Amino acid sequence: MAFNKTGLENDVGYVLLSETQIRQRVQELDMQITRDYEGKNPLLVCVLKGAVNFYSDLCRNIADYMEMDFIAISSYGNEMKHSGIVRLIKDIDKSITGRHVIIVEDIMDSGLTLNYMTNLLKTRNPASLKTVCLLDKPERRECAITPDYVGFVIPDEFVVGYGLDYAGTYRNLPYIGVLKPEVYTDAE
Ligand code: IMP
Ligand code: MG
Repeated sequence: MAFNKTGLENDVGYVLLSETQIRQRVQELDMQITRDYEGKNPLLVCVLKGAVNFYSDLCRNIADYMEMDFIAISSYGNEMKHSGIVRLIKDIDKSITGRHVIIVEDIMDSGLTLNYMTNLLKTRNPASLKTVCLLDKPERRECAITPDYVGFVIPDEFVVGYGLDYAGTYRNLPYIGVLKPEVYTDAE
């Protein structure tokens, strides 16, 4: 596949959430989080790699003390469906005992990934543990878990951009979109 911006954008069927919509919503989430965590010096944990753009925009607008850490989980491979297997690839570096922790995730789909992470981090006795997801696809949930903060509830569509990928590609699109069906057909 020729990898240039024009070719890249040509693969997008339609834009689900524009840059402006994302920016406005992230600012709202920031105001809420800044208010809720006043004086608590929260640790914001970025779930690599999908949450990276959301995380950096979110952190940049938190108007109070906070710290950063990173975790990497594998659950998808190149498939568009959850494999059912969640694997820890990189753990956070900091101790979270007694800390206020917020997991920052790109999207909640089956919920298995976030369920795995919250169970893992809870065993380390944080003072509190909450989750913020930019996108939520509640229709596809396979376990009883809901994010504490949600950017947008979206329909059951596979989306790319703003950090989200299909087979490793499309993370650099500045908006969130749905690919043309032929992009998947061609990949087979
Ligand atoms: P879950 O464990 O099924 O909730 O899936 C969560 C992970 O699957 C997310 O962190 C994403 O990496 C990936 N994922 C789920 N839905 C999509 C999508 O529509 N586009 C891209 N990645 C997705
Ligand atoms: Mg992810």
